[in-house]
Amino acid sequence: MPPPLRLALLGCGTLAEILAERVFPRLEQSVRVVAAVDVREDRAVAVGRMLGASPFATLRDAVAAVEVDAVDVRLPHHLHLEGARRAAELGLPFLIEKPMAPTLDAAREIAALAGEVRGPCGVSENYAYLAPVRAARDLLNSGAIGELLAVQGTRVFELGAGWQRDGWRLARGVASGVLIDQVPHVSRLMRTVVGEIVEVHAWAPPGPRAEDSAAVACRFESGAVGTQLYCWACSSSAAPDGIPELSLYGTEGSLAVHVSYEGTGGGALLQRPGRPDERYGGGTNYYDSLALCLEDWAQAVRVGSQPSCSIEEGLTDVMVLHAIQRSLADGCPAPVASPAHR
Ligand SMILES: NC(=O)c1ccc[n+]([C@@H]2O[C@H](COP(=O)([O-])OP(=O)(O)OC[C@H]3O[C@@H](n4cnc5c(N)ncnc54)[C@H](O)[C@@H]3O)[C@@H](O)[C@H]2O)c1
Repeated sequence: MPPPLRLALLGCGTLAEILAERVFPRLEQSVRVVAAVDVREDRAVAVGRMLGASPFATLRDAVAAVEVDAVDVRLPHHLHLEGARRAAELGLPFLIEKPMAPTLDAAREIAALAGEVRGPCGVSENYAYLAPVRAARDLLNSGAIGELLAVQGTRVFELGAGWQRDGWRLARGVASGVLIDQVPHVSRLMRTVVGEIVEVHAWAPPGPRAEDSAAVACRFESGAVGTQLYCWACSSSAAPDGIPELSLYGTEGSLAVHVSYEGTGGGALLQRPGRPDERYGGGTNYYDSLALCLEDWAQAVRVGSQPSCSIEEGLTDVMVLHAIQRSLADGCPAPVASPAHR
C-alpha cells in the first residue's frame, strides 16, 4: 500500500474542527494532515494541535516547510477558487468543498485548474456516500416502487451558531444564503438516486440578507417531477424531526430516505401496499459519509485513479445551482445545461 497522503488543510474553521475531531483520526492509514493553514493563527494552531500538524498562515509557507502531497480546501464559498489557484500554482491536487464554487464561471475555472495539477482533484460532496442514499438508488433501479412519478427533497433545519461564527453564510453578496450552501447536497442526493435534473423553477422570499428559505420545482430526465424545499432559519423545535430528506413516490410504493447525523438510525424505508415496511441501508451516518468521501479522493491520489467525488460531478451540481439562480433572477423556469454544454 502507498504511504498515507500528506495533506495541507487549507481553512481551519468550523468544518475543519469537526473533521479534526471526528473524521481525520479514523483515516490514519490513508491520510495524514501535516499542515494546518489559516489566516487566523489561533485557528491554525488549534486545529494543528488536534491533528499533530504544524500551523501556517499560507499554503506557500506550509509547502516551503513540510512535504505536502495534496491540499484539502475547507474555505468559505467565495474563496474556493482562490484555494484551487493556490494549490494549482504549486502543482498540488486538491479536494474542494461543496459547492465547488458559488458561480458557474468560477467552477469552470476550478475544473480547468484541476486539469493542470499532478494528480486527481475532487469535490467534497458527501451525499452519494451515504448507505441510505445508495440503497434507495438500488431499490428504485430494481423496480421496487414501480414507475417513479414524484420526488420531494427537504432540507429544513436550524443553522447552528458554529456555522454563523464568521457571518459570511448569511451576509448578502458573499456567496451566501441557503441555496448556494445546500443545493449541492440536494442536487447530489437527487441525481444519485433519481438521475439528472433537466429543468428548475425557483422561488425565494426577498429580505435584507441572503435567502433563508426557497422552493424549487424540478423536472428529471426520466420524466418524473419533484420539489426541493429549503429553510435553515426555523427554530430547531420547529424543524420536522423524522421528515425524510428525500421521498420517492411510485406506481407501486414509496421510498423515504432518512439521513442520520449520529449513530446508525438512518435508512431507506420501503413502503408498499399490503406488505410490511422494509428498511435498507442503515449503518453509515453523516460523519461516515464525510470520511468515505475524503478517503475515496485520498486513495485516488495515492494510486492515480479517479474518485467518484469527481470534479465533473461537482460541476454538474453547480449547473443545477446556476439554473436555480437564473430562474430566481428571471422569474421563470430555467433549463439545466446538458453535459455537452458544460
Ligand atoms: N459537506 C458538508 O457537509 C459541509 C458541512 C459544513 C461545511 N461545509 C463546507 O465547508 C466549507 C467551510 O465551511 P465552514 O463553515 O467551516 O467555514 P468557516 O468560516 O468556519 O471556516 C473557514 C476558515 O477559512 C479561513 N480562511 C479565510 N480565508 C483564508 C485564506 N485566504 N487562507 C487560509 N484560511 C482562510 C477562515 O479564517 C476560517 O477559519 C464551506 O465550503 C462549506 O460549505 C461542508
